Amino acid sequence: MDYRELAPFPDGFLWGASTSAYQTEGGWDADGKGPSVIDARTDFPEGTTDYRDGVDHYHRFRDDVALFAELGLKAYRFSVSWSRVIPDGDGEVNPAGIRFYRELLTELRHAGITPVVTLYHFDLPQALQEKGGWSSRATADAFVRYARVLFEELGDLAPYWLTINEQNMMIMLGAMLGSGTTGDRRDIWQQNHHMLVAQAEVMALAHELLPEAKIGPAPNIACVYPATPHPFDVIAAADFTAIRNWLYLDVAVKGVYNPTAWAFLVERGWQPEFAEGDAEKLAAAKPDFIAFNYYTSHTVAAPKGDGTDIRDNGDQHIVLGEEGVYRGADNPNLPRNQFNWEIDPVGFRTTFREIYDRYRLPLLVTENGLGAFDELTADGRVHDDYRIEYLEQHIRQIQYAITDGVEVMGYCPWSAIDLISTHQGIRKRYGFIYVDRDEFDLKQLARHRKDSFFWYQELIRGNALPERASVAEGR
Ligand code: BG6
Repeated sequence: MDYRELAPFPDGFLWGASTSAYQTEGGWDADGKGPSVIDARTDFPEGTTDYRDGVDHYHRFRDDVALFAELGLKAYRFSVSWSRVIPDGDGEVNPAGIRFYRELLTELRHAGITPVVTLYHFDLPQALQEKGGWSSRATADAFVRYARVLFEELGDLAPYWLTINEQNMMIMLGAMLGSGTTGDRRDIWQQNHHMLVAQAEVMALAHELLPEAKIGPAPNIACVYPATPHPFDVIAAADFTAIRNWLYLDVAVKGVYNPTAWAFLVERGWQPEFAEGDAEKLAAAKPDFIAFNYYTSHTVAAPKGDGTDIRDNGDQHIVLGEEGVYRGADNPNLPRNQFNWEIDPVGFRTTFREIYDRYRLPLLVTENGLGAFDELTADGRVHDDYRIEYLEQHIRQIQYAITDGVEVMGYCPWSAIDLISTHQGIRKRYGFIYVDRDEFDLKQLARHRKDSFFWYQELIRGNALPERASVAEGR
């Protein structure tokens, strides 16, 4: 549906940008920080950096926040490193870790930037992993305790909280992300259940300790198209939607497993065990909003069931497939980025509407963006028109979603500043701010404003998309 005129972005819209701790901070063992599963990773493809230095945000956060303020950010979404705050995950609290996040939050407050704090973004403390990771219920208990520490120590400075970043991607692609959420499939779904119960407890705890604060889940949600109108493709798309999207959000919001996703788990013999009280914990927790990450839509076809339904070249944005349930398919209607991810701004609008129709909660976008090989030119600039175009097309679709009646709180694209990608190094860049380092040569780690920085700055100032005749509207 088109409109004669699109609704404006509401006053107070949270124009923001996002990062995560392990991809930016560096200082992987500084000031008492314990190792995380990410620090213990050794499976980097040749020529790809690890995360130990990040972009040195740990030591440069004041300068970075000054740049975020200059950019005009109203919100900054970042994650706390669990093992910086509790080095072994469930033991002593590290005062230096708390100090760092209090200083960061204070700096943001002085800059007038609203923090959106993710409790956990892939980087489980390695000590917990060695004790069984999420397979062990003790990790769920440790997560609830960790959240309590953060609510008590940082709660006065942080009005918005996110529980777990992309739990669905950790469960589906743990090996690729290095999040430690691997094992046999039965066990992985038990890990998932422990996370869901821990998340429910943490949401209830936030409401008890911080009655003014708001908290929500942050999965990766994407609409799924059938490869053709054939009913078998359509049902495969519905099955994948249930397993990929609603399994997580139905538990987070409605407190119960999605029936189709549960049937899939039962069919495979992978259904998790409920401990006494789990069902009540899940039912009792209510998020205040839903945060979600969106990079692209997905397309799937009916499975062949002949051992070829799972393709070997997928990642969190290229569907792998599930034997006998759905096959990943290419969408011939969509262009692709340099990493073969399809680009689908209209799918973003569809995704907003699907989530809002289903749950009727305010929505906050906590990731969306374009990874690309940026080039720093001799004049210290990065001419990233392609990123501006991607963001503009997606932001236009947010405006459509708002006009459709969806309640959208804000937009925090990935990423505020260049960072190390999940499996493709620093050369795959997302930021508004360029960080001058290579995979192995840290250089001076100097910061440079990209063209997209100035474009986003203008957008935030005007609370509207700047006029740019050259860019198609993505429809
Ligand atoms: C999301 C993650 O899956 O996608 C981020 O939450 C990640 O941590 C982002 O960086 C982009 O993916 P990638 O693989 O390009 O880093």
